[in-house]
Amino acid sequence: YTDRQNEPVPNVKAKHKIVLGFSQLGRESQWRLANSASIKQAAKDEGIELLFTEADQKQELQIQSIRDFIKQKVDVIAFAPVVEDGWEEVLQEAKTAGIPVIISDRTVNLDDSMYTTFIGADFEEEGRRAARWLVQNMQGRTNVNIVELQGTVGSTPAIDRKKGFEEILREHPQFKIVDSETGDFTRDEGKKVMEDCLRRNGTDIQAVFAHNDDMALGAIEAIEESGLKPGKDIVIVSIDATKNAFNAMLAGKLNCTVECNPLLGPQLMKAVKTLVAGRQLPVRIITSEEVFSQEVARKELPYRKY
Ligand code: AHR
Repeated sequence: YTDRQNEPVPNVKAKHKIVLGFSQLGRESQWRLANSASIKQAAKDEGIELLFTEADQKQELQIQSIRDFIKQKVDVIAFAPVVEDGWEEVLQEAKTAGIPVIISDRTVNLDDSMYTTFIGADFEEEGRRAARWLVQNMQGRTNVNIVELQGTVGSTPAIDRKKGFEEILREHPQFKIVDSETGDFTRDEGKKVMEDCLRRNGTDIQAVFAHNDDMALGAIEAIEESGLKPGKDIVIVSIDATKNAFNAMLAGKLNCTVECNPLLGPQLMKAVKTLVAGRQLPVRIITSEEVFSQEVARKELPYRKY
């Protein structure tokens, strides 16, 4: 990570109780619910007063929340941006008010002078891991037609997972993305989009890459209703590694899930305390993650926390 050693420390006054304003982007997935729960629990554990809002995947609601936090003069603002673009104005307002901002989970399309740190996963690497798993496990096939279920348009995980996945496939021309649509990271949309893809492509689909587990679970329902066997007729790889995905792997319906850790609360509170103590943070704090397939699902399930 890059150090900020020579930059001025944001002007945060230590008070009796630290107040953190957190704008969560919504409740679209199991991952998101686990992320929200982790943040609330960690704030409680650390004695930090948390003002927590949810935005139903709407950027304008998040901007409104951040403006409210500025008005309330919170000590630190943190948020999980639903999309990458369109944050400059409100982050400038926070900067002018002298309130430090932490970006959590997804990132923004701005230079890092507009926030103190980003805490989250390497989404591009997650996409690469999903593709590597597919290539290794479907070796020997001459033609693999893939349906890609994308996350929310304009969001970091949708952009970066696609990029990482395509990067690996470029070296394996027998693997082709034949259809790629957004399911907005929800189970319902994942199902609808998969139904459309099956209608368009008939049975000539060998694999699905879903940008999250919820959409994969929706796709599994669509595939079953079409009379095909998910996990067998169509190989499915997704991202998050939720308990629901592990249960789907145990049932033989999902083949692999790449971990994306939502339990960011403790790291976030540590960062908040560091800022309030007047110390610098690295520009990026990355969480470490694994890849899980059907073979290890039974052994790993008892250890899953979300
Ligand atoms: O930003 C993280 C992604 O958002 C998770 O993979 C997904 O489940 C969530 O909705």
